[in-house]
Amino acid sequence: MGWISRIGPSVAAGSAALVPSWLRALAPPPAARSEAEPALLLAYATQTGVAEYHARDTAARLQRMGVAVRLVEFDVLSIELLASVPRMLLVVSTTYDGEAPDTADAFCDTCMHEPAPLEGLRYGLLSLGDSCYRQFCAFGRRLHAWLQASGAQASFAPVEVDDEDAAAIQEWHRQVSAWIGSLAGGVTRGNG
Ligand SMILES: Cc1cc2nc3c(=O)[nH]c(=O)nc-3n(C[C@H](O)[C@H](O)[C@H](O)COP(=O)(O)O)c2cc1C
Repeated sequence: MGWISRIGPSVAAGSAALVPSWLRALAPPPAARSEAEPALLLAYATQTGVAEYHARDTAARLQRMGVAVRLVEFDVLSIELLASVPRMLLVVSTTYDGEAPDTADAFCDTCMHEPAPLEGLRYGLLSLGDSCYRQFCAFGRRLHAWLQASGAQASFAPVEVDDEDAAAIQEWHRQVSAWIGSLAGGVTRGNG
């Protein structure tokens, strides 16, 4: 998965329910970025596409704020990568009976079986689920617990979304904007 600058404005402007997957795939070609290093890692784990939509929307909003974002699927994550970045956003769903999406299976198996040395990491977490299921947002909660056990610090309380609740999504964007805004531009310089 490439840089967020590859995602076109039509992706950010639409709604997950209104933009079909084939149209979302037709993002414009990449535009060159001047930043040599990404400042903010944004990882998503999705089973049916909703988390990916919100990750891309979040990344597009950050890009409009002037923040360099590296958008990746969960299956490229490693302890080394997490330990190498000062901050990240995670957008994950829960599937099956309280399980992680398939693309996060390898990460769960190889990385989450024990705490990792992530004391330098600050993060924000958006957790998608549906309270109709017995284990609401179970993967997001497990991920948060593991990050905490690993010494990482949540920059704001994890935002849990019940069945695409619009108010919760809005709260996520508000929290992300507040966090990034509080860095006073430092995010693009690798500070904060
Ligand atoms: C087969 C299936 C199983 C699900 N299991 C859970 C669950 O155990 N806990 C939960 O909170 N949500 C569960 N959900 C709801 C999804 O997490 C929710 O619809 C989410 O928005 C899907 O995001 P995604 O498209 O990124 O996977 C399940 C949905 C499906 C279709």
